[in-house]
This record gives sequence, C-alpha cells and structure tokens, in this order.
Amino acid sequence: MNMRFSGDDLSSRTLSIIDDLKHLEGPLLPILHAVQDAFGYVPDEVKPIIAQALNLSRAEVHGVVSFYHDYRHQPAGRHVLKLCLAEACQSMGGNELADSAKRLLGIDMHATTADGSVTLEPVYCLGLCACAPAAMLDGEVHGRVDANRLAGLLAEVRR
Ligand code: FES
Repeated sequence: MNMRFSGDDLSSRTLSIIDDLKHLEGPLLPILHAVQDAFGYVPDEVKPIIAQALNLSRAEVHGVVSFYHDYRHQPAGRHVLKLCLAEACQSMGGNELADSAKRLLGIDMHATTADGSVTLEPVYCLGLCACAPAAMLDGEVHGRVDANRLAGLLAEVRR
C-alpha cells in the first residue's frame, strides 16, 4: 500500500478508528494496528490525535510505535517481504537469507527499494518453524526459502 492521504483524511479516518476501538481495554495497540491497516503505516500526524483521545502524551504514543517492529514509519512499497529472524529460522540460515535479500534489493531492513517496489522487514516467527527459514511475501508464507528461491519470488513480483 503506497497511497498518500491528505491531512484532513488522516484526521477524520483516525478519529473514526479511535471511536470504534477506544472502548477496548488497552486500546492503543489495536488503534495503531487499525491506523496502519488504513494508511499502510503510522503517520506522525496521527500520533497527537491518538495521544489526546487516549489521554496519553505524544511521547508515549511515539514510544510504543517505535518499540514494536510491526509498525511502519513510512508508507510501504508495492510489495512487502518479511523475513523471519527468530531462533528456529536463524539456526537454519535466516540471517544469511536476510543478508542475501539486502544485497539483492540493495536496501537494509525497514527500508524500501528506490523504485518503490519492495519493502524489506524482519518478523519474529511466522509459525512455520518446522520449515525454516521462513518468509512472507505480500501476506503469503513460504518455507525452506534459500537465496535462489527468494530471488525467484522477488523477480516474479517485480516484473
Ligand atoms: S522461527 Fe521462523 S517461523 Fe518460527
């Protein structure tokens, strides 16, 4: 998802998300998830809106967004590649696979290729530990991924 939203759009959609979810116990994380689902990332502009609605400081909201790997600070590319860096995958070459992906794409983790095609993100267990190392490309999980297979998957979506 790589859409741009106007300030008004960001505010009104964020306010309606807050309205829907503020009754939950511990509403901050679900609200941030819903905001990311709506915009593809958590824009800086919405943090004060959320802070005010939940009676938190902006620093608290910012701290939570920074702490969790799941939240993006920038819009994602057209495709999102998540590579598992949790223990089972690490022991089966997950770090080396991540290095191959970085070289292949010419970017680091949490970054997007210059052409906007792929965002690379770490993930910590995809529930596919028995088929490590695991990856997820645009929501689809793949097990026993090696550098060649990864290059093939990426070539397919970047065509
Ligand atoms: S540790 Fe990678 S899928 Fe579980």
